[in-house]
Formats: sequence, C-alpha cells, structure tokens
Amino acid sequence: MIWQGVISQYKKYLPVSDKTPVITLQEGNTPLLYSSFLSREVGSGFSVYLKFEGANPTGSFKDRGMTLAVSKAVEEGSKGVICASTGNTSASAAAYSAKAGIKCVVLIPKGAIAKGKLTQALFHGAKVIAVDGNFDDCFEIVKKITENYPITMVNSINPNRIEGQKTGAFEICDYLKSAPCFHFIPVGNAGNITAYWKGYNEYFRAGEITRLPHMLGFQAAGAAPIVKGEKVDNPETIATAIRIGNPASWQSAVKAQEESKGVIESVTDQEIIEAYKLIPSHDGIFVEPASAASVAGLLKLIRRGFFKDVENGNIVCVLTGHGLKDPDIALEEAQAPVVVGPDLDKIVELIF
Ligand code: F0G
Repeated sequence: MIWQGVISQYKKYLPVSDKTPVITLQEGNTPLLYSSFLSREVGSGFSVYLKFEGANPTGSFKDRGMTLAVSKAVEEGSKGVICASTGNTSASAAAYSAKAGIKCVVLIPKGAIAKGKLTQALFHGAKVIAVDGNFDDCFEIVKKITENYPITMVNSINPNRIEGQKTGAFEICDYLKSAPCFHFIPVGNAGNITAYWKGYNEYFRAGEITRLPHMLGFQAAGAAPIVKGEKVDNPETIATAIRIGNPASWQSAVKAQEESKGVIESVTDQEIIEAYKLIPSHDGIFVEPASAASVAGLLKLIRRGFFKDVENGNIVCVLTGHGLKDPDIALEEAQAPVVVGPDLDKIVELIF
C-alpha cells in the first residue's frame, strides 16, 4: 500500500474521525538505519539504529505533529495558526498551513535560527516575526496571544502535536518488531521525549510490544534547565534548535525519564560537534547539530562504561532534523575544498 502519511497509517491511535480533513505531506515512514559504526562502538550484543527524521517533507520530526495539529485546527474551523520556534516548528507550521490554505504566524528569536529554516518559513508564506529576545520570550508571547485572540497555537503544548509525534515510536516498534532497550533523543522544549514515551506506552498497552525502552534524553550543556533543575535565563549552544531555557514539557520529560528508568543529561557543544561530524562520515546521513545530541549522548555513555552492565539489545538514536538546514556550521567545521584551475594533470595529482 502506498504510504499516505502518519494520520492515515495510525488513525486508530489518533484523535481523528472520518470528518477530520487530513492535511498531509505524506510525512513519516522515515528510515531506521542500522549503524555498524556505532554498534561496534557500543560492543557485541548491541545493535544501534538511527531514526532519520530529517527525511520528513520539511526536513524534521515536526511534520509528524504538524499534520495532526493543522488538520485538527482546520476541522475546528480555525483560520490560522501561530507558534514560537527555534526554526523547525516554524518551517513545518508554514508548510502545512500553506497546504491547508490557512494563515501562519511564527515568532523566532532574531538572528538565532538556521538560515535554511528561516527560508522555509518565509518561502511557504508565513508571517515571520523576528523577536529581539530568545525562544522562551517568543513562547511566552505566543501563549498570551492564543489566550486572547482567535488563532491556534501549534507549539507542542497543543496536545495534537504530541499525538502526531508519538507515531515515531510506533514506526520504530513496527520495524524492529519490538521496542528498543534504549531510546536516545535530544531534548529542547521536551515535546518529543514526551511524545515518544507516550507512543511506546500506547503500543505496550495495545499489546504491540512486550517491553518498554529506557528513555535517554540529552540537552545541550549551555541550555540544560532540566539537568540543572532550574530555568536558564540566557541559554547558549551552537545547537540553536535546542537553545531553550524553560521547556514547555519539562514535567512530562522528567516523568518519561523516571518511569522508564532512563536519564536526562547534557552534552557539551564540543561533544555535539564530534557526533555531528561522525554521523555523516560513517553512516552517510547529514543531520543538524541539535540532532547529533542523541548520538553525542550515546558516545558519552559508552565512554563512561554504561553498557558494560546493562542487558544487550537494540539502541535507537533519533536524528531529529536534516543537516542541509544549517550548512553554515558544517562549513566552519569542514575542510575547505582545494582550489585549482581547469588543469587535468594537477587534478589527477591531487586525486592519486
Ligand atoms: N531537534 C531538533 C532538530 C529540533 O528542532 C528540536 C526542537 C529538538 C530536537 C528538540 O525537540 O523541543 O521536542 O524537545 N525544535 C523546536 C522548534 C523547539 O521550534 O523547532 P523538543
């Protein structure tokens, strides 16, 4: 059967009916790639898989939640949606609103989102407002606007976003025919760790899986309020997507960590960059810096000897967004190309 998107695939687990107008870009069904490199790094008995969410239509996992949030907004007669964003939510909201033919407004921290994401929001026709402040400032304003004006919030405190995003867990279980033992995930506003945990639990209750994974969430060290146990006023990290000091789903992220007997820890920008460079060179997929936080977390736990005394099994790292959204950081990290004239001999000399 041809893939029709996550609503069509998983409707029996989602708050939709035959009357729901399905606004889809055929998101989901993203690759779950076995990583021989990372599996070797962890050690025998473990298999590491990478869930490449950058393969979604707008290049990030946000599309899973946005298809549902926008479909429900249209069903409820909403004429427009609004969100605060570090970039990916705004790109996704803009694309799904364009498809639905409704208005989209996005508030972004000025100068602090990747160019590719800004371009997406603008080109899909969203009203883009750059706020001289950070994500948390944008989010507070969006909350106030949606409390007082007729426009639908599509940040992840909209429960439809979480509902849609939980389908990532379903796909992993459908593919592996069980839940992984360990699920590594970057944490920013904490919606995605909440959604995956919900998805695994629903599949468990439905009898689709017989065990639950440990959830291992990773924040960037300069933007790690959950790890620190307090808000961070001026979050800083090169991983702009997770540059958040006061996550909206803080409590449910902690709940996922506690219930699953997992961890929420931080990784430094240096550790993020290390993983950011290793993934494309060993596994052939290019992710954005924030996405690399899951693999950075895995490498950190490997070094600590974490896997020496735990049961063997499957490990999944979610890679949340595509690297092409943020090429500036990659170019800074990559070796510049060698420049030569159209000189065959010289080029042959360089190659061999
Ligand atoms: N990875 C990427 C690429 C993201 O864009 C985000 C969040 C996260 C991880 C963290 O996910 O917030 O559910 O914990 N981006 C949001 C945005 C905040 O506005 O695009 P989370």
